Amino acid sequence: MATSRGEFSSRFGFIMAAAGSAVGLGNIWGFPTQAASNGGGAFLLVYLVLAFVLAYPALMAELIIGRHAHANAVQALRLISNGPKSYKVGTAVGLAGIVAVSFILSFYAIVAGWMITYLCGSLAEIVGLTELANWFVEFGPVRNIGSMLIFMLLTIGIISEGVHDGIERWSSRLMPVLIVTLILLVLYVLTLDGAMEGLRIYLIPDFKAVMDPQLVVKALGAAFFSLSLGAGTMLIYGSYIPDEGNLPVLGGWVTLVDILIAVAAGFLILPAMYVAQHNGVEIFAADGSLLNEDTLIFTVLPALFETMGGMGILVSLMFFALMTIAALTSSISMLEVPVSYAIENHGMSRKRAVFLAGGIIALASTVILLNFDSLFGLVVAGTTRYAQPLLGIMFCVFAGWIWHRDSILQELRKSEPDAENGLFWRVWPWYVRFVCPTIILLIFVQSFIG
Ligand code: TRP
Repeated sequence: MATSRGEFSSRFGFIMAAAGSAVGLGNIWGFPTQAASNGGGAFLLVYLVLAFVLAYPALMAELIIGRHAHANAVQALRLISNGPKSYKVGTAVGLAGIVAVSFILSFYAIVAGWMITYLCGSLAEIVGLTELANWFVEFGPVRNIGSMLIFMLLTIGIISEGVHDGIERWSSRLMPVLIVTLILLVLYVLTLDGAMEGLRIYLIPDFKAVMDPQLVVKALGAAFFSLSLGAGTMLIYGSYIPDEGNLPVLGGWVTLVDILIAVAAGFLILPAMYVAQHNGVEIFAADGSLLNEDTLIFTVLPALFETMGGMGILVSLMFFALMTIAALTSSISMLEVPVSYAIENHGMSRKRAVFLAGGIIALASTVILLNFDSLFGLVVAGTTRYAQPLLGIMFCVFAGWIWHRDSILQELRKSEPDAENGLFWRVWPWYVRFVCPTIILLIFVQSFIG
């Protein structure tokens, strides 16, 4: 079974795939713009703490369950259940994850589509087709639906190639390109006038903001979204890790790469905003607060690129290519969740499963686009504010309370015979049992009170 369902062929391949899933619009857009609006360095600090103390252990819960079962979330949770009740709950949690991640992809594909249109806009600009370039960056139904479909087709194309030839191969190709592009952009922007002001805001925490309970809520949401948690994505990637892979180390790498790229993106976006201000672009609203997230990316940055002359077109091209790549290595991990379920539980061929799941999700995206004002925000909040934290808690509960401890240890011993005496085994089991669910729940409840 393990071989027919495919697996990652190397440590590097897995890290690129899982980091590719983690690194996405959440890191390059979400994290820096939220940091900018929420106390700069304060947000960074809280985010770093939460990523290591909460997100990493929760990621490990998904990876270990997945690797143990070598199956999708529904099958995996059933396998580790300890009676008919937890069997049913496991089935429900697995299915809920599939629904949640499908809705996440349905809004993600819309935003990713916009990245493609801005990319095309820059290309059209280069060849002098100004009118076409303008069409690409204007909000309109044909542009919106068309670009979403193109993005979904790219995602479908990669996923239909399978775990090794699709996910692993493309992640290993695209992630290095992403990292190099990001570094080049950061280095360039830091040389521009005004950048240092942005850097100051980013790195010096406003400690009053650290105390704001809403900041913790937002930072946890950002960390969970960024590490692709609470949807079964990491569980399914975990299920493709061969038994020799050392899970705590692999999970550590993924967390580290994800955090480093989010932090690096902050070095790009915040300085860029202040360079824009220096060049005369408005970055604050009338009430003195920073412009909101989508205005920053789709209005402020393009306005900035325009003030940079010929270099601006190149930078714009690189920036939106970066965004598109980041989104694609994430969207493939989302689509794999329903696809693996359809293959393993309903005996479908991969091609059929991919087109069916991809088609349904594209349809959902179209419905959202046609009712944008009423649906978009709703779907984002429903999935990221509610479903992800709640399902995240359930994965921790399964790993900490339902799954037998000996069986977890055996799973870890497959790659690390001495796992019992390691630091991970001394801390993680009780941590994922008590600390993770409690803190996630507290923050979740807090988000309603505040
Ligand atoms: N982590 C990705 C990002 O930062 C998004 C993502 C991929 C995701 N898979 C997910 C989010 C599953 C939630 C659930 O953009």
